[in-house]
Amino acid sequence: MWNVWLVVFFLCFAKIQCDDCPPIITRADWNASDPKEIKPLSINPPPYVLVHHSATQSCFTVEACKRLVKSIQNVHMNTNGWEDIGYNFLIGGDGSIYEGRGWGIHGAHAIKYNARSIGICLLGNFQEQTPPEIQTKSLNELVSCAKQTEKVEDQYHLIGHRQASATLCPGTFLFKIVQGLPQFDPHPQ
Ligand SMILES: *[C@@H]1O[C@H](CO)[C@@H](O)[C@H](O)[C@H]1NC(C)=O
Ligand SMILES: [Zn+2]
Repeated sequence: MWNVWLVVFFLCFAKIQCDDCPPIITRADWNASDPKEIKPLSINPPPYVLVHHSATQSCFTVEACKRLVKSIQNVHMNTNGWEDIGYNFLIGGDGSIYEGRGWGIHGAHAIKYNARSIGICLLGNFQEQTPPEIQTKSLNELVSCAKQTEKVEDQYHLIGHRQASATLCPGTFLFKIVQGLPQFDPHPQ
């Protein structure tokens, strides 16, 4: 047992792996198409975290969520003509997390915030029902990991998409939960 603690101590001391970051399913794992263009955020680490819903069906297995994420990328790239899937990350109804554009990359999810935020999309329609607890737990874990690893500002502001534009996103049920999360900002700028 002592040797396990020695390893943990060493890794923490070397700052290799002491953060509580959840596993993230990579682009290669969901068969992402390559982005047509990659632009960095203009403020990095960014001061905002924006929460979205996909306003689609939900998914409750990794296989189904991979297909849904891929289909969202197809719509964003082929129909909307964007350079990539709009969001930085996506989260399935089973709590699985998917890399979208990833950390530090300019998104296409909320005008005025794309250059200075991380956009996280919970898969499903939360205008109609509340998300499973495991899905919002993953949201919490991803945001807390972002803070710990300086992927967002320490004093980041968490907001729902409807605070940035005239939209129902992330849905009334999810927005209620967002309002109770750490560092929620009722008056974003
Ligand atoms: C991966 O994506 C490409 C491009 O969209 C598609 O042609 C191919 O069928 C996909 N492969 C799988 C295994 O889904
Ligand atoms: Zn949205």
